[in-house]
Amino acid sequence: MKTRKLVMIPGPTPVVRAIQDEMARETVAFGDPGFVKDYRELLVDMKELWGTTGEVFVIAGTGTLSMEMALSNSLKSGDSILIVSHGFFGNRFVELCEKRGLDADIIESEWGKAVPVEEIEEQLKKKKYDAVTVTHVDTSTGVSAPIKEIGEVLKKYEDTLFIVDGVCSTAGQKEYIDEMGIDVLITGSQKAFGVAPGLAILWAGEKALARRKALGTISEYYVDYERWIPIMNDPSKYFATPAVNMIWAMKESVNIIKEEGLENRFERHIKNGRAMQTALEGLGFTLLADEDVRAVTLSNVLYMDGIDDAEFRSVLAEEGVVVAGGLGDYAGKMFRLGHMGNIDVHDMVSTIAAIERTLHRVGAEVELGKGVGILMGELLK
Ligand SMILES: Cc1ncc(COP(=O)(O)O)c(C=O)c1O
Repeated sequence: MKTRKLVMIPGPTPVVRAIQDEMARETVAFGDPGFVKDYRELLVDMKELWGTTGEVFVIAGTGTLSMEMALSNSLKSGDSILIVSHGFFGNRFVELCEKRGLDADIIESEWGKAVPVEEIEEQLKKKKYDAVTVTHVDTSTGVSAPIKEIGEVLKKYEDTLFIVDGVCSTAGQKEYIDEMGIDVLITGSQKAFGVAPGLAILWAGEKALARRKALGTISEYYVDYERWIPIMNDPSKYFATPAVNMIWAMKESVNIIKEEGLENRFERHIKNGRAMQTALEGLGFTLLADEDVRAVTLSNVLYMDGIDDAEFRSVLAEEGVVVAGGLGDYAGKMFRLGHMGNIDVHDMVSTIAAIERTLHRVGAEVELGKGVGILMGELLK
């Protein structure tokens, strides 16, 4: 008999039945009064939960579309931008900015480390920037940027927008928009929200909305805030067809978050993330990200000597857990394990147990039950 496969990659994450049920509902007209009400309530909740008096946009797309949306509505060709990169997804901003003809400077850390906040501040003193981008959690390295501290620094720079990529953090790690000085927060549906891929999500605070107004006409059509604002304020209006079932799925995700409490959800992610990381280290793995900047939404796990990545991941899949491979220089040397969204204690225990069985099957030295014991001990603290 085949073992069920738990999808423990860093997105898409497991989708719980209640959310799947929303995606399986009979699709209605986007003007259906029941749907309009649901969409409206979702948008109100999302603004309230993440704390902004600005706007939230929930539209069909992915995280990359949100990245483009953020840049298109914040900067015109020739404007200056500082990109703080902790890996592959930070570098994606470099490509996007080059394509847009922006004057982009990049401060990059060694993979696994974070750029010190002081270095960002030094750079801001040297040159005026129209925007700064920071990836909260870079999925390629598992590094979590100190968003609150960077936000504090940026509060001193009135003309600089703080754009945060929350694709691998939002709804799993702490982000409050206005309070933390974030001007634009972007994300997608498929990671810590525990919804299938398909939605681009973006919050824009008051300063970001004022910047959009100051830009006048922009060349983009689909991602223009100005075209979506009337719809986000009154979802009975039409601009481009909303992804009806995905909006329902997202609404269910937000209902689950409200029931759990956003703060409790952040705490759960810390507890689960740290427990999993302690268990992995107990089994002899090392983690790429330095401890003081380590994300809790995923783990970037370096193999011990003698383990073949392809074999390990394929045996692990047979044992019931799918993980992702390493990116860049870490391809073949690392696996990436997501532990965010609506995963529960069963998923966590099953995952570490499958990792132990896999180590045993690939001939690595392993004391069966050790990782499970550590994990459960940490979770019960
Ligand atoms: C941090 C981060 N930013 C951006 C993206 C791009 O998002 P998407 O693949 O949904 O376009 C990802 C995808 O994994 C990501 O992890």
